Amino acid sequence: MTMVKSGFDDIAGSQKRWLITGVAGFIGSNLLEHLLKLNQKITGLDNFATGHQHNLYEVQSLVTREQWANFTFIEGDICNPEDCAKACEGVDYVLHQAALGSVPRSINDPVTTNAANITGFLNMLVAARDAGVKSFTYAASSSTYGDHPALPKVEENIGKPLSPYAVTKYVNELYADVFARTYGFKTIGLRYFNVFGKRQDPNGAYAAVIPKWTAAMVRGEDVFINGDGETSRDFCFVENALQANLLAATADDSAKNEVYNVAVGDRSTLNDLFAALKITLAENGVVYEKEPVYRDFRPGDVRHSQADIGKAACKLGYAPEYRIGEGIARAMLGICRIECKTALIFSALSGHSSHYACTPLELFKPRNNYELEISARSGWSSLCCCNAGYSPSPEFAGF
Ligand SMILES: NC(=O)c1ccc[n+]([C@@H]2O[C@H](COP(=O)([O-])OP(=O)(O)OC[C@H]3O[C@@H](n4cnc5c(N)ncnc54)[C@H](O)[C@@H]3O)[C@@H](O)[C@H]2O)c1
Repeated sequence: MTMVKSGFDDIAGSQKRWLITGVAGFIGSNLLEHLLKLNQKITGLDNFATGHQHNLYEVQSLVTREQWANFTFIEGDICNPEDCAKACEGVDYVLHQAALGSVPRSINDPVTTNAANITGFLNMLVAARDAGVKSFTYAASSSTYGDHPALPKVEENIGKPLSPYAVTKYVNELYADVFARTYGFKTIGLRYFNVFGKRQDPNGAYAAVIPKWTAAMVRGEDVFINGDGETSRDFCFVENALQANLLAATADDSAKNEVYNVAVGDRSTLNDLFAALKITLAENGVVYEKEPVYRDFRPGDVRHSQADIGKAACKLGYAPEYRIGEGIARAMLGICRIECKTALIFSALSGHSSHYACTPLELFKPRNNYELEISARSGWSSLCCCNAGYSPSPEFAGF
């Protein structure tokens, strides 16, 4: 994975302690990987509501032993003020990512989403303020634009929220503003627009569209498009979001008590996305021949979304390095690897031949301890060793 350059130089120069909440999730674990590689000290907080231990194992396998020793994990809940206070001890910079994502989840269970996203957020604000941290950056959301029709979206013009999730993210911004006015505790909110990349969960009813469709295509399953496929989004590769976080955390006071769009400034329809995924998968040896299945629009979804990133560029120096195509090409390999391996494991255990047999052998090699563990349990690695002449790398031999 390429290092995000902007925002890194100052940080690498001196070791600070960062708190990443939601560290076992998609964006949180990517932040963890990057900051450990910069030899920073990290405290991570997560209750595994939607995050995974295997994301932490994967990060462990991608950094040195010394870098991993800089990580302290607290299994805890942001709804518990004591967990928040403990996590903030000795912390310089807070990157608050923990929340329950997904518009449909919030429609099905608004109370649980409200607890994590509003009570949990408030607990984190109080704990960080009381600990005297240098900065507090939090994950806001493009869902705050709600029913405002203008494109591209500029930070000052928002409409009415279209889902309980959108309400929670807007309330975060209101609390953040009140904390600046009332206690002088200034924060930065990053309104993410459809972030995607490695370690984004493809499974479950609330999975995001890119990992969900990619997994379905690799498995040869149907891809469902909600609506006519002309719904559009500003898809943002995770490395752009990492850059924004590092810039925000270390920003001057004049850039604080603000919210910023974090995206690319492009707009792709779901039909465009389907075509792009199909092409990139084919380049990775997976041919998907089915047509997408169109079904009803999903309640609560915004029809079109595209960011104006001028404010983040001007006040934070944000300059996204990856447009959607480059991001998909990078994200795809990781998702393919997991999916193809799952298929091979299935075929090894069931005795059925895999229809992914043409997938390049490279995809099946265990890359890290987590994958080696799965391979050992499932017989995947012995199948590779016996049938395809693969031997595990010496770096995994001690596992
Ligand atoms: N991915 C996107 O496109 C996107 C877009 C807009 C906003 N966001 C926001 O970005 C943040 C990170 O999203 P993500 O995509 O990485 O999601 P994710 O679900 O992968 O990560 C969220 C993490 O928070 C943890 N968590 C949830 N409730 C918690 C609680 N009560 N206590 C402690 N930990 C808890 C989960 O276990 C998980 O590890 C979230 O705040 C989300 O709302 C994401």
